[in-house]
Amino acid sequence: MNKAEEHDDTPETARRKPFDLGRLLAERGAERYELYTRHLNHQLPRMLRTIGFDRVYERAEGAYFWDEDGNDYLDMLAGFGVMGLGRHHPVVREALHDVLDASLADLTRFDCPPLPGLLAEKLLAHSPHLDRVFFGNSGTEAVETALKFARYATGRPRVLYCAHAFHGLTAGSLSVNGEAGFRDGFAPLLPDTAVPLGDLGALERELARGDVAAFVVEPIQGKGVHETPPGFLRAAQELLRRKGALLIVDEVQTGLGRTGDFYAYQHEPGVEPDLVCVAKALSGGYVPVGATLGKDWIFKKVYSSMDRVLVHSASFGSNAQAMAAGLAVLSVMEDEGIVARARATGDLLRSRLAALVDRYELLHEVRGRGLMIGVEFGRPESLKLRGRWAMLQAARKGLFAQMVVVPLLQKHRILTQVSGDHLEVIKLIPPLIIGEREVDRFVEAFTAVMDDAHGGGGLMWDFGRTLVKQAVANR
Ligand SMILES: Cc1ncc(COP(=O)(O)O)c(C=O)c1O
Repeated sequence: MNKAEEHDDTPETARRKPFDLGRLLAERGAERYELYTRHLNHQLPRMLRTIGFDRVYERAEGAYFWDEDGNDYLDMLAGFGVMGLGRHHPVVREALHDVLDASLADLTRFDCPPLPGLLAEKLLAHSPHLDRVFFGNSGTEAVETALKFARYATGRPRVLYCAHAFHGLTAGSLSVNGEAGFRDGFAPLLPDTAVPLGDLGALERELARGDVAAFVVEPIQGKGVHETPPGFLRAAQELLRRKGALLIVDEVQTGLGRTGDFYAYQHEPGVEPDLVCVAKALSGGYVPVGATLGKDWIFKKVYSSMDRVLVHSASFGSNAQAMAAGLAVLSVMEDEGIVARARATGDLLRSRLAALVDRYELLHEVRGRGLMIGVEFGRPESLKLRGRWAMLQAARKGLFAQMVVVPLLQKHRILTQVSGDHLEVIKLIPPLIIGEREVDRFVEAFTAVMDDAHGGGGLMWDFGRTLVKQAVANR
């Protein structure tokens, strides 16, 4: 306390903070949708209003958030996967308070702080064949790093990727994105080439041209929740090695226990990627973070001399908040057995949903691993439902999945998402801390929605007709 404060006898309550976040939110929080409409991506509030998702959430904890009326919502989306431990995990939160209170000399850029080294050491313990880590600030940056490192290390220009892949939306990652909807209008991109997921023949043909630096792949694709076929990663690795190209595994969504293994590639014995991309859940959802793990020789090549020490770097990379949060997350994962828990809860949820496939003709498949689950809808058999399904399909693919997502939120207060444009698949990626209570709540709600859809209940299909009108108007 300085001298001025010592003699300041203004009552605590009357003293005004120079910046008062609570007050700002109390005064202007209600303008949130208008502010978005005016200053940010105006299509977001528009889309939310269209599907009745324009809620006001005030508070969150674990796998739940609460709206302004105190209603609880079950989160089956985890902030697109960043909230692996749920919201506001007390251990991660305390680590962040501690790191701020420690007033560290962070980001001097001309010293070697301890936290990045400690986090790298902990992360690498989960993939013992890898040696070094580059820390950035997001998933797409983790992928960009891998693309650059692969090109530099091999001296070759081309990267192969899978049809329908998603690796982020910056220009390099966009070059290995397998969906035209994301790429269109942003060309020219990098000279990369798509191969169908699981097609070893196509991979081999492309590799034969001798200009391939790497093949980048998600062990389970986020768009549609499609797994690589059994044995594919191992076989691809062998083909790549034979041709001197690298295997990059993108674990941005699948990593850190999501699929019931620490990394999803570990499901398949013998897979040892040259580079692994991690982000999302690594900092418990609090601080942007990304990490690219790789083999020693690759890093040694990129950083081959002192002159090249900053050849690949990021101003915020390795910052103390992200590193402390990462260390706390890994510690919680160990203490709470998060990986095994995700596997067990995932098995339970998937099996209970799979048991519904025979009961509902619109429900075609339940797939995925751990707590990354895809629920696919498809053409029904009965005449009555076929007509309705055809009406939706003619307007736009993916509308039925949207018809399921909407009542799940509006009637049952459960947040899910359609797993990509034009897909009749919903994706469940809840926080890994959910248990039987959340599984019960989801399965009951989903069953009720399926009953509505199959029972000819007017309301749900009326909403479908509204979606059709909007889809047609939007063309
Ligand atoms: C597999 C995968 N890679 C990369 C990314 C990009 O991550 P970010 O949004 O942090 O840039 C995502 C994001 O969803 C992803 O799922």
